[in-house]
Amino acid sequence: MEPVLTPFVGEPNAQTLDFALQHRGYEGLRKALGMTPAEIIDAVKKSGLRGRGGAGFPTGMKWGFVPKDSPKPKYLCVNADESEPGTFKDHVLMERNPHLFLEGCVIACRAIGAKVCYIYVRGEFYHLQHVLETELRRAYDAGFVGANILDSGEQIDIYIHRGAGAYEAGEETALIESLEGKRAQPRLKPPFPAVVGLYGCPTVVNNVETICNVPLILDRGAEWYAAIGPEKNTGPKLYCVSGHVKRPGVYETDMSVTLRQLIYDYAGGISGDRELKAVIPGGSSTNVLPADKIDVQASFDGLVQAGSMLGSAGIIVMDETTSMVWVAKNLLHFYEHESCGKCTPCREGTDWLHKILSKIERGEGELRDLDLLFSVADNIGGKTLCPFGDAVVPPVVSTLQHFREEYEAHVRTGRPALAPWRAQEELIGAH
Ligand SMILES: Cc1cc2nc3c(=O)[nH]c(=O)nc-3n(C[C@H](O)[C@H](O)[C@H](O)COP(=O)(O)O)c2cc1C
Ligand code: SF4
Repeated sequence: MEPVLTPFVGEPNAQTLDFALQHRGYEGLRKALGMTPAEIIDAVKKSGLRGRGGAGFPTGMKWGFVPKDSPKPKYLCVNADESEPGTFKDHVLMERNPHLFLEGCVIACRAIGAKVCYIYVRGEFYHLQHVLETELRRAYDAGFVGANILDSGEQIDIYIHRGAGAYEAGEETALIESLEGKRAQPRLKPPFPAVVGLYGCPTVVNNVETICNVPLILDRGAEWYAAIGPEKNTGPKLYCVSGHVKRPGVYETDMSVTLRQLIYDYAGGISGDRELKAVIPGGSSTNVLPADKIDVQASFDGLVQAGSMLGSAGIIVMDETTSMVWVAKNLLHFYEHESCGKCTPCREGTDWLHKILSKIERGEGELRDLDLLFSVADNIGGKTLCPFGDAVVPPVVSTLQHFREEYEAHVRTGRPALAPWRAQEELIGAH
């Protein structure tokens, strides 16, 4: 399909307001200003848009949960924290197509009755912050944001907030805590943010890519949007393809695409023309799929049927030289570091899993350690305050399930079980 979220990425000055206005910029907002909030929500529901932040929850339905009769102010928080390993699409949207994004923020605010939008940007995105602030100023000056937007009487303000750079700050209630000036640690749910969110007021938290879809739905129509891609998995989708591929990058298509097409057609196949070994399809928190399972639709529902998830659409490709023990250890190192420490199973369990995997990787593992890995993982998943605990399990359990023989060989020989020429090399991370 023709890209509609990233049509001009790479063209000079594509991020500027002038460029956006030459390419239907803010047409969706013009239409939204002539519609009631209920009509906007209805259009988003009809489009079938599902949230692009990981869970795939229907966006129109989420907006509908915001109480209309609440006397409190309402807020939109856009989640631009993007810290999941393998995921790098949202900052491309904000940096290369900022006006589509800002237009989406204003329309979403109008739909839920919010007068203020906070964009929570990952701390490390320095350049992005500069681009976004410059273009936001231009949007204010041109009357697309701020007081009396396009003479409609509508007032909506947008603030950019830079986080300190923590994966956990992307969890929606942790993000809200962080915006309030506290440590980015999650809150117990319920109550859900739609009713009790930022400053105790009704709040919607949406992903950047989700928000960028909104102007397209308004401008071109819900029917046009709903006709893109498979049923219940509608609209354009950005995929981040990284790892052992010839052309890593962000690719836009619809969700009828398969993992094989994304790896071989879009990303040019495996570097060095080596064999594919495994794929993590949706960011580090989704189950790894072995090479013979890639003829599957890379959609929300297709990947669930294949035993994994679309998640944040961060496709990590691993060739035959990759040690799966190293992969699990490396990811657990990340999770151990990023756990916010609020609940015991996650705080202690991630550390323990990392220690066991490191022991195996050093060549000091025992076969009973493999059962211990399952047991510790089982005592984290589903037993924690926030979904971070569930995210820790897939790298361990899915690599063990699909590559148990490799783990056992590593325990028996003390070395990674890799392609023969690779196994001769020194044990230096085996990657
Ligand atoms: C540990 C953790 C980190 C997360 N990080 C992000 C993130 O960086 N960006 C994001 O949009 N959603 C992230 N999420 C999901 C959000 O909590 C939330 O579901 C999402 O922003 C909702 O947006 P959507 O409905 O538009 O998908 C994270 C969730 C967890 C548990
Ligand atoms: S699961 Fe982990 S990250 Fe989430 S609240 Fe508990 S300790 Fe914090």
